Amino acid sequence: MPTEELVNFLDEWKPREGRVVEFGCGEGRDSIFLALSGYEVTGIDIAPSAIERAREWAREEDVEIDFQVGDVTALSGIPDNHFDLGVNIGCLQMFPDPEDRARHLNEARRVLKPSALYFFLNMGGGTRGEAVERFGHDWTPPIVGELRPRKIMVEGGEKEIMLPIIAGYGFQGEELEREFSASGFTIADIQRKKTRPHGTCWQVIAVCP
Ligand SMILES: C[S@@+](CC[C@H](N)C(=O)[O-])C[C@H]1O[C@@H](n2cnc3c(N)ncnc32)[C@H](O)[C@@H]1O
Repeated sequence: MPTEELVNFLDEWKPREGRVVEFGCGEGRDSIFLALSGYEVTGIDIAPSAIERAREWAREEDVEIDFQVGDVTALSGIPDNHFDLGVNIGCLQMFPDPEDRARHLNEARRVLKPSALYFFLNMGGGTRGEAVERFGHDWTPPIVGELRPRKIMVEGGEKEIMLPIIAGYGFQGEELEREFSASGFTIADIQRKKTRPHGTCWQVIAVCP
């Protein structure tokens, strides 16, 4: 299933058609949705196993997508001013180092055409108070490497497995505004919203200079 907020964004903002790039596309569910919606899609992810699965999935859906293994902080194979729309769902939060985030935003600005929209949804926007309210007073902030129980969907229902916490970054709105602006983007819309299944997220719609 595609990300509901992306579906709503296309409905409400009607971004111009043409080439779209999905940064950190994972196994490709949103890239496939974008291709089925009429875009010419490039999906980039650093994980070869995710790209392999995305290619298989696109074949099953009978859509053509240029899935590439690549690092969204260094897109040397992609020309300047190439895409009409950028999409990033949960990839920037994987960069706890602000220099990596700046490198990505500068690359996004370079490969997007002038006035292209950049749709961005970043997980981990909840506050400590909300986490305590949801999980109880013995809730402690996660530590990188620690194993925590997580529910995953499997055929016929859900299953709980233990997964290690990986380094990530939970933004606050002012930081997002500052970091997008520092790379030359203008923020057209910014909202903190509760989503299913990603929890509390920051959604940004930015315009390329
Ligand atoms: C939280 S997942 C989201 C995946 C997908 N957008 C989705 O919503 O299903 C973040 C993705 O970012 C990818 N990623 C992390 N660092 C990256 C980098 N430097 N370049 C490209 N992809 C990266 C990860 O491999 C992962 O697939």
